[in-house]
Amino acid sequence: MSFILAPSLLSANFLRLEEEVEMLNSSMSDRLHLDIMDGVFVPNISIGFPQIKYLFKISTKPLDAHLMIVEPQKFINRFRDFGIQTLTVHYETCIHLHRIVTQIKESGMRVGVALNPHTPIEVLIDILEYLDRVLILSVNPGFEGQKFIPYSCSKVCRLKKIINQKKLKTLVEVDGGIDIGTAKMMLEAGATILVAGSSIFKAKYPIKMIKQMKSIIN
Ligand code: DX5
Ligand code: ZN
Repeated sequence: MSFILAPSLLSANFLRLEEEVEMLNSSMSDRLHLDIMDGVFVPNISIGFPQIKYLFKISTKPLDAHLMIVEPQKFINRFRDFGIQTLTVHYETCIHLHRIVTQIKESGMRVGVALNPHTPIEVLIDILEYLDRVLILSVNPGFEGQKFIPYSCSKVCRLKKIINQKKLKTLVEVDGGIDIGTAKMMLEAGATILVAGSSIFKAKYPIKMIKQMKSIIN
């Protein structure tokens, strides 16, 4: 059994973005996680379409966009046109979640729904079969380098149990405070995709750290 490792670019050195992406291209990482923030849903602003356009050209890894923005439905086709493969929206920003999920799928992208730390996984039970992924935020969204919230573990366990009971293929993704220790815990709890920012980019040797993380499963 293996898992999918998605480094979050938010922790990269933005003055050397091309080098950072090339480093990831040559690493054992599986995908590139892009955190999109609007300063409204979360108290921070990150990158947008001008950057994504170039990242798509230089990344050899598939791009995932984690939208921490209000009214994500306004931008679905633009993210698709900019080469995003999986689009993840927040449950807390979508009044008509089923409609938005359907629109994302119809646009040809895979769809994920993210849950803030305080949002119980049970709110997704009825829509679970439509989702490619559920992203459990294990920190409050908006910033990299925060401490992992321990009760995320029980959320991942509960969610995985429901997915298994329903015999679904929905994957569980965990984002926030992931390092070697918490990665192990989350994989044991049932996660298949792990997002890691600071533990990779702030490591002395990021490529080595990625390799180390990828090998914990064995
Ligand atoms: C939090 C973001 C995360 C963050 C992860 O808002 O969604 O993707 O960049 O960074 P670390 O791994 O440092 O918690
Ligand atoms: Zn993220």
